[in-house]
Amino acid sequence: MAEIRIRSSVGEYPVLIGRDLYENELPDLIGRIRPTSVAVVSHASIMGLHGKRLIEAIYPICGGENGVFQYLFAEGEENKNLSTVEDGYEVFLASGINREGLVVAFGGGVVGDLAGFLAATYMRGTRLLQVPTTLMAMVDSSVGGKVGVDLKGAKNAVGTFYQPQAVLSDVGVLGTLPERELRGGMVEIAKYGLLYDEIMLQKIGKWHDGLPENAEELDGVIAACVAHKADVVTVDERDLTGKRAMLNYGHTFGHALETATAYIHLRHGEAVGIGMLMAARLSELCGLAGEGLHEYHRCVLMPILKDVVFPRDLDAGRIVNAMQSDKKKGHVMRFVLLQEPQEPRLVESPGEALIMRAVADIMRDMKGD
Ligand SMILES: NC(=O)c1ccc[n+]([C@@H]2O[C@H](COP(=O)([O-])OP(=O)(O)OC[C@H]3O[C@@H](n4cnc5c(N)ncnc54)[C@H](O)[C@@H]3O)[C@@H](O)[C@H]2O)c1
Ligand SMILES: [Zn+2]
Repeated sequence: MAEIRIRSSVGEYPVLIGRDLYENELPDLIGRIRPTSVAVVSHASIMGLHGKRLIEAIYPICGGENGVFQYLFAEGEENKNLSTVEDGYEVFLASGINREGLVVAFGGGVVGDLAGFLAATYMRGTRLLQVPTTLMAMVDSSVGGKVGVDLKGAKNAVGTFYQPQAVLSDVGVLGTLPERELRGGMVEIAKYGLLYDEIMLQKIGKWHDGLPENAEELDGVIAACVAHKADVVTVDERDLTGKRAMLNYGHTFGHALETATAYIHLRHGEAVGIGMLMAARLSELCGLAGEGLHEYHRCVLMPILKDVVFPRDLDAGRIVNAMQSDKKKGHVMRFVLLQEPQEPRLVESPGEALIMRAVADIMRDMKGD
């Protein structure tokens, strides 16, 4: 098992990565937190696949059935919204959970972001345990304390920073993850590689037929991603100095792609992958990077994105509009670009014409026109 410690303004917490962690680590962890009751927030399908192991580990410490209740909501990014949050508050209220309780976020990034927001805001804060079950959530969303939900026109527009007591990543549960979701997670791993770590790119370059059989290799790459994220969130927890903003590589374009397609056509990882291709092209167009950066990105990302079906009716204008509507809500149009691989730079307002061209170039490529 790997253990990485995350330092934050409210204290330090561990991220545990390995196998059989529900049986071997969860009871001790919850025993130390000593909650009066536990709310498991998840989806029915995840509970069906892995819930028994989780519940069996929790029941003995929390007084059995009476001490544990579940809030299960419908899957999909389109349900990461305030109406799902409100339903959750009602379930929390009916169950009687209070500030001495514990919210267990058991699922992918959608569950983690929404359950984290519930924990942060219900009764002004209940403790939170992140138990990620997707590759995406293990390498990225469960770590660092960003929690929140989407508005129709703006991704992650409502949220806060709320650090968990711990993150428990049992890599064994990835065995049931559909291939499309695995590839979404691999995109975020590629993001760390492109930003900081060439060796990681070499490793995942060999994973195109799926995750490696070798448990040590997979757990090691997940731990390396968490270590990169830990380095960044430790020095810039609240995303104020530009250090943490680097993790948004591909996300300005990616979020616009998700918003412009109503959160249903592209998975988050797919949108970010296309977003990184656009960012690489923009890096070239604005003269920051030499020609070749985009081609390098294609070699890294296209094997992962090979099955993505790009919505044919989407045009470049809609994507740039989605970015601008984000900007109107007070965000500066800031882009993480690369001077070369592993050399990220933060660039403000590179010019609308260049942005439009970068978007159009990649869309043409993705649509195969
Ligand atoms: N807070 C952050 O810092 C941060 C960082 C990155 C991404 N995110 C957010 O994360 C979300 C994307 O997360 P995601 O890619 O995990 O998507 P997701 O949570 O929607 O999960 C994808 C699908 O996989 C299913 N699933 C989960 N675990 C499974 C398992 N073990 N076996 C079988 N099926 C399983 C889920 O039910 C769901 O249908 C986005 O909302 C994104 O904005 C947040
Ligand atoms: Zn992301």
